[in-house]
Amino acid sequence: MSKISIIGAGMTGSTSAAWLAEREIADLVLVDVVEGMPQGKALDLLEAMPVLGKDVVVVGSNDYATTKGSDIVVITAGIPRKPGMSREDLLTTNAEIVGTATRESLKYSPEAIFVVLTNPLDTMAYLTMKVGKLPPQRVVGQAGVLDSARMRAFVALETGVSVENIHCYVMGGHGDEMVPLTRASNIAGIPLDEYLSADKLAAIVERTRKGGGEIVSLLKTGSAYYAPAAAIAQMTEAILKNKHLIVPAAAYMQGEYGLTDMFFGVPVQLGRTGVEKIHEYKLTNDEKAALQKSAAFVKESINILHNLVKI
Ligand code: APR
Repeated sequence: MSKISIIGAGMTGSTSAAWLAEREIADLVLVDVVEGMPQGKALDLLEAMPVLGKDVVVVGSNDYATTKGSDIVVITAGIPRKPGMSREDLLTTNAEIVGTATRESLKYSPEAIFVVLTNPLDTMAYLTMKVGKLPPQRVVGQAGVLDSARMRAFVALETGVSVENIHCYVMGGHGDEMVPLTRASNIAGIPLDEYLSADKLAAIVERTRKGGGEIVSLLKTGSAYYAPAAAIAQMTEAILKNKHLIVPAAAYMQGEYGLTDMFFGVPVQLGRTGVEKIHEYKLTNDEKAALQKSAAFVKESINILHNLVKI
């Protein structure tokens, strides 16, 4: 059995474990700094396995030694942005947490592929690669699957068509400047802009961009976790099963789309070695301009990171 360790057993980490356990593709380890919590959640999940009929071992721990020999390490550890907290403060705190998670995990799983979820996503994935001195293909950030899933869900609600027929692609940084590629999105091959009026499509794009905030304002005390966790399950399964699955996700840019030395949301092909390939769309000038705008925000965040920590 393969092994996936999830660092950060909070809402997203533990929900990822639940989705993954149902897929029966790997034994699971939950690690957190809070004493007892990962152990308790892991035991609870383990006790669900007989009901679900899945032979998966789930272990919780405060000690990275438990993660030894992981094929994949998922990093969801971090703190959310609190009222009054600056972006720099959030970056400093989460950089410390994600840096430690990377270093400690690598001690016990030197060959692991890292799937990063902690925000600010593109910057934290960049940090993981730099701190771990990892080849770019072994680090991928989850954001695009979530953003695209939100768009797909909204299109399904609007049209009444199965979510399985709806294909949407959201590129760019994980923020309000993300770029929903409506031109490449379709319903069973029919372009979205033929299916929906311009007004309806614009409203869906706007709701997608603000999708994270919509959930935060409803929950009040936290952010989305079901959909982000489902995205983690899909991506880690694609890696373990060597599916060569193309998903929108954050990967290290080395000239693709004219971008270098940053993580950015692009179509990524996932297989057993991690990021096998980055696919490139032929973009219109408007799409290129939107991507550049989004890239500028990510670059700014990475520059702040460079000023804060030596990597
Ligand atoms: N090592 C391990 N775990 C840590 C550490 C650390 N150094 N610091 C904090 N954690 C744990 C917390 O104890 C908490 O259980 O990370 C967990 C984060 O869980 P939640 O607060 O429930 O946050 P969640 O909603 O899961 O989001 C996690 O993903 O989507 C992003 O923006 C989100 O960055 C956030 C991350």
